[in-house]
Amino acid sequence: MDAKSLKGKHFLTCEDWSKEELDVVFERSFELKKQFYKEVPHIYLPHKTLFMIFFEQSTRTRNSMEAGMTQLGGHAHDLTADKMQLSHGESAKDTAIILSRMGHGIASRNCFYGIGADYLAEMAKHSTKPVMSLQDDIYHPFQGLADLMTIFEQFGKNTKGLKVTISWAYADTHSKPLSVPQSQILLLPRYGIDVTVAHPKEFPLSKNITEKAMLNAQQGGGSVKFTNNMDEAFEGAHIVVPKNWGGFGAYGVQEYLDNEEKCKKEMKANLEKYHDWICDDRRIKLADKNVKLMHALPADRNHEVTDEVIDNPNISVVFDEAENRLHTAKSIMSLTM
Ligand code: CP
Repeated sequence: MDAKSLKGKHFLTCEDWSKEELDVVFERSFELKKQFYKEVPHIYLPHKTLFMIFFEQSTRTRNSMEAGMTQLGGHAHDLTADKMQLSHGESAKDTAIILSRMGHGIASRNCFYGIGADYLAEMAKHSTKPVMSLQDDIYHPFQGLADLMTIFEQFGKNTKGLKVTISWAYADTHSKPLSVPQSQILLLPRYGIDVTVAHPKEFPLSKNITEKAMLNAQQGGGSVKFTNNMDEAFEGAHIVVPKNWGGFGAYGVQEYLDNEEKCKKEMKANLEKYHDWICDDRRIKLADKNVKLMHALPADRNHEVTDEVIDNPNISVVFDEAENRLHTAKSIMSLTM
């Protein structure tokens, strides 16, 4: 397919992108990675402007996008809601119309449960330029791309039969969105990968996403299964992804929004039951002897995963995964903007 046909396309979820389109994205990502290492200029977006609006903190996403725009010859505005009239209630619609008249792309992170993805969809509806999700309450599509690129690097492009375990893990930082594991379970089975998701019963992923992931698996030749047993999920895995997420999936969106304080209290109490959900050396020994550790980062060290595992260069590919956020971000921006 012609890469030019992707110009103007929104990137809110990989679900809206065919495998043929994603092939173009990965081809461009690998080309950009080579050029980055060789310091060969790759000015795909000279003088173009991206507006980035962050409602939450970020290290990898913010810097991969901003550095990426500079390296592509353009510029990214690093905006937060408090710097904008959004904080006085200006609508997503008006913001999108105005910014899309002034620049060439809009990207936003809005992870509020029941709000984020709808906010981005509203921007996309009214923007005349591509809108990109930098993570919302449902999806983190840039993370999904970087994860798959890292898998291709480690295991080659033929991923059929690869066993990936995505396991909930304890963390005491904050209630993390569902969007990372949800993007992974939707995307990986499209590439023939067998995904096992492990989580305590109080920390399910959203039902509509797990159902869609199973459909994707049927079509892509992979599989998705669920267990409440972390040890069982690690057995024979080629890749393990120990990652905390909040208990949002146990509630319907409206139920959560109507009873936010009560739900948060319950989630916190449930969290405290599962300190032993950690990726440590014992559990790594249950996996395949050449197992790789992946994690979107930031990792809650010695809660989600021990230092011993995450710092083991024979196992951990988390920094390759983080670096690949740059190359995949540049690919999407260069193709769509
Ligand atoms: N993985 C990820 O999205 O990291 P940041 O929150 O630092 O952007």
